[in-house]
Amino acid sequence: MFNLAKMLIIFIYLTSICCFFITSQNVLSRDILSQNISSPNTPPQYTSPQDIWYIYEEPIEDLKLYDTYTFKDGTLMIWMAFKDKENPSCMLPYFHLRLIERTGQITYIDLNYTFPPEAVCPVNMAFIPLSYNYIMIIYVKSNNGVKGKYGLIINYDSKIISEIYLGSVNEYITDSGISEKGFICIEEHDERGIAAWHWYSAPDITTGKVVELGSGEFSVPNLLSYTFVNSFNFNLIDGGFGYAYILKYDEMGSSATNDPNIQYWKIYVSFLREETYSPTTPSLVDQTTTKLNSIEFKSCFYNNDAGYICIVSLNNTITNKDQSRTEVNYYQLEFLTTGSFVQFGMVPKVISNANNFNLSSLVYGGFLVEKYYTNTNAKNFYILDNNGNYKSGGSFGPEFVHYNMFRRNGTLLGIKKQTGNKLEILLKPLLRLNNQGAEYNNPAIESTKPAVNEVIDPLINEITIKYGIPVRLSTANISIFQLNDDPYKPSLLRQTISGDSKLCTIGSDNHTVHIPIFSSTFNQPNSSYYVVVDNNFVISQERNEPLLGIIKKTWMISTKPFKIGQHSVSVTGLLRLNEEGSSKFLQLNHQSEFFNNIIQEFSKIIPVDEQRITTNGKWQNDPTFPKKVLLSFTINEAKSAMEPSSKTIFDNLGTLIERKRFTALSNYEYSSLIDESASFTITSYFGKFLPLIIIFLVSMIILIILYFLARWKNPEARNIAIFETALIMQDFAVDLTFALLRVHNTPHLIIPNMVFLVVPHVVSLLLAINILLSEVAMNPTFHTWFSELPTLLSICTIFSAIDILAINTLTSNLFGLKIFSAPLSQRSRDIILWGSFINIFAEDIPQLIIQILYFNSVVTYDFIPSLVIISGGLVIMNKLILRSYQALIRWRHRRDEIRNFIRDRRLSAGSIRSLRSNI
Ligand SMILES: *[C@@H]1O[C@H](CO)[C@@H](O)[C@H](O)[C@H]1NC(C)=O
Ligand SMILES: *[C@@H]1O[C@H](CO)[C@@H](O)[C@H](O)[C@H]1NC(C)=O
Ligand SMILES: *[C@@H]1O[C@H](CO)[C@@H](O)[C@H](O)[C@H]1NC(C)=O
Ligand SMILES: *[C@@H]1O[C@H](CO)[C@@H](O)[C@H](O)[C@H]1NC(C)=O
Ligand SMILES: *[C@@H]1O[C@H](CO)[C@@H](O)[C@H](O)[C@H]1NC(C)=O
Ligand SMILES: *[C@@H]1O[C@H](CO)[C@@H](O)[C@H](O)[C@H]1NC(C)=O
Repeated sequence: MFNLAKMLIIFIYLTSICCFFITSQNVLSRDILSQNISSPNTPPQYTSPQDIWYIYEEPIEDLKLYDTYTFKDGTLMIWMAFKDKENPSCMLPYFHLRLIERTGQITYIDLNYTFPPEAVCPVNMAFIPLSYNYIMIIYVKSNNGVKGKYGLIINYDSKIISEIYLGSVNEYITDSGISEKGFICIEEHDERGIAAWHWYSAPDITTGKVVELGSGEFSVPNLLSYTFVNSFNFNLIDGGFGYAYILKYDEMGSSATNDPNIQYWKIYVSFLREETYSPTTPSLVDQTTTKLNSIEFKSCFYNNDAGYICIVSLNNTITNKDQSRTEVNYYQLEFLTTGSFVQFGMVPKVISNANNFNLSSLVYGGFLVEKYYTNTNAKNFYILDNNGNYKSGGSFGPEFVHYNMFRRNGTLLGIKKQTGNKLEILLKPLLRLNNQGAEYNNPAIESTKPAVNEVIDPLINEITIKYGIPVRLSTANISIFQLNDDPYKPSLLRQTISGDSKLCTIGSDNHTVHIPIFSSTFNQPNSSYYVVVDNNFVISQERNEPLLGIIKKTWMISTKPFKIGQHSVSVTGLLRLNEEGSSKFLQLNHQSEFFNNIIQEFSKIIPVDEQRITTNGKWQNDPTFPKKVLLSFTINEAKSAMEPSSKTIFDNLGTLIERKRFTALSNYEYSSLIDESASFTITSYFGKFLPLIIIFLVSMIILIILYFLARWKNPEARNIAIFETALIMQDFAVDLTFALLRVHNTPHLIIPNMVFLVVPHVVSLLLAINILLSEVAMNPTFHTWFSELPTLLSICTIFSAIDILAINTLTSNLFGLKIFSAPLSQRSRDIILWGSFINIFAEDIPQLIIQILYFNSVVTYDFIPSLVIISGGLVIMNKLILRSYQALIRWRHRRDEIRNFIRDRRLSAGSIRSLRSNI
């Protein structure tokens, strides 16, 4: 039953919003045309078609509306309380808050906490919303008989996080207007006008703790013969605070009063911002020679055209022929946060001669006048342009009991007297005098690329914002979020860049801001994103005044359902921790926990299913930065075509790391410890090379088996030289692959590897050329053979650069082909044999050593280097075996010859010498 009611409310709310959007198109034209411009005092029609009605139904019996709070994003907070039946100024000591979002989603906060009597009778309680779903309830409590203000920090789950002491009972506490920038407590000023302030941080996103960021005093400019009268504080749009002082001339004796040049009243303004946590030197923004009774600040609001507009009332006594009367006039004081004065103009009398009214400036220009009456709850309101001309108006009837306003989007809110557990809520959108940037709720913006609700190509590399006036980049951020599919979960930060980060640029027209997009930002197909532009992302070039930004979920964009890219198998990569992270990691007892936590964070940030990222838990010190640690992670292959490929995930994570400062990686406990100066490098990437590697391995194994079979059968067979050559070739191929693809993982091995790869081959080539040339010159049979096949031979020469042993192929008699029956002399055969034997020490063993060093310096060891080791080992073994066979044959041969000699006793000393030299 209860759920049904909730859904009904949401339905009503949503349909009313839809109706609003349909009707809002023609608000402007119809309103201006249909209003009776001349008579601001006759209430116009009571309801208008663009009004939105909706009903909130309270689930808890007897809870009554106490107060409301409006957010700039359109969320309404309703504070419900149990009235004290005996004493109407009191409430029961509980706290119940309802958050109604623009989508109709409602969060119920019912705190299980009993407040002290001094907080609730009479009610001495308030609340301010803090960032990240925290709220602070401010209430009065006695501690050892001393009353003070305390802040109870709770979250949207109705959990109490902490309680802090805020200050004395008269402390003024306000949020900074930008919830991430915390809140401020300002003490009541003393008689000299000094007011102490304490600026507190926003709650920590995980612990909810707040800390004091700065403190100091607002102090009045020290002017001779002026005394402090009053002060007024207001929020700045960049999250800072403004503080205005009113000073009055001391009339000491009567002589001074006749001086017409004396400035009787002076108004100073000082600004407090987070960059310094220290107020600026007060600037004089207005002064007057008129002897007024008093000056009072009513309200101060930001305005796109003027900077800040404060409404001040001037109480003056006019003496006319013995008759005197006092009159109060309203003025608009306009100034910039640079401290410069813009304008001081009178608000038209026709408005201000009524008694009970409120005047405030509107973001879209012009003013709102709200008129109240003494014996009814009804109110009228008017929109005036900057010159005070009536533009439009409306009213709320006597059945309304509570009013508020969505100031940023210019919507008035009225709540009817509660009937049972139902609250009827009316939203009245106000006429906007300037319709520029209506889609963005920001009159400063002309257009954006992509436009609102545009479906974009995820590969775009920038977005742009065009402002109506020339702008300069400032310090605040522009951020892109991905909307969570689950509306109850927070949006996902994709990237955030501050205006002054050098990444953003202003076009040559001075109106257009270009913001780069990282390749990891729009990485999900068919998803919704929105861009948030903070206030003070840009400032006006002319006035140096921060401009408004774009609030969340306004500039929505979505990605089209794109193909996720080709399938790729698992990728293993290494990333580095920074020094802080490395030392934390090394101190841990359970390093696997670190791995698990960081994988969880990755899966949220990328975003990707947690199963896709795993680790073998391997780590090592970075050889080039011994204080830093390298960790190994594997991106597993996709299980279905719907999932992003491992290569895509790898690339996204790589971009996130490279841009860590601007992505959510820097907001999480573990991922913030990654060193962004080292890229995420692949240590094994089977995907691309796997088929190649398999073919390689299989053919090598076949080759080896054949080779050993052949050798086994006939140690002297020459025609197996072709196998040797093949073995050498593939050894060279894996060496080369290693040099091209892997050795860069270990920078200290690049040069040795190069030397032992290049030098032996050059020597080999020279030897081969030498052999062939001398054969051609001295061996007539070779010369004849050679002249028949010159091209093939040159190719063989090149091959023999790989290893001199390759020449042996030419003499192998393979298949009885002529090409393989080169008549090499014994001398050349010896050179080949010795050359290739020496090559073991010049190339093969050094290569093996390099491989062992490489193995020690990397975390994940893959196929390519292991192939190098296997084939290097085989080549050495083969050469050794070959050499031993050769020696054996020679030895047998000589033994036989010596036997023959002994038997024959006819051998000369010369022939023995020649025999020896042949070995
Ligand atoms: C202003 O905010 C209210 C409250 O969320 C919303 O219903 C209304 O549609 C908004 N108006 C405009 C013009 O965006
Ligand atoms: C409220 O808190 C008290 C203790 O502080 C606890 O005993 C009680 O169960 C809580 N009630 C609810 C409804 O959570
Ligand atoms: C204006 O000042 C006079 C003299 O101080 C005071 O009596 C009167 O109440 C003031 N009027 C208003 C509307 O504040
Ligand atoms: C911009 O964002 C960064 C990172 O989130 C944050 O540390 C910084 O305070 C923000 N700057 C402003 C001016 O909000
Ligand atoms: C843009 O601003 C710069 C400096 O602020 C100025 O020199 C230049 O003339 C401006 N360009 C245009 C097109 O207004
Ligand atoms: C895109 O998302 C919408 C809603 O989230 C869904 O209805 C639609 O089927 C999706 N389209 C594709 C091609 O996945």
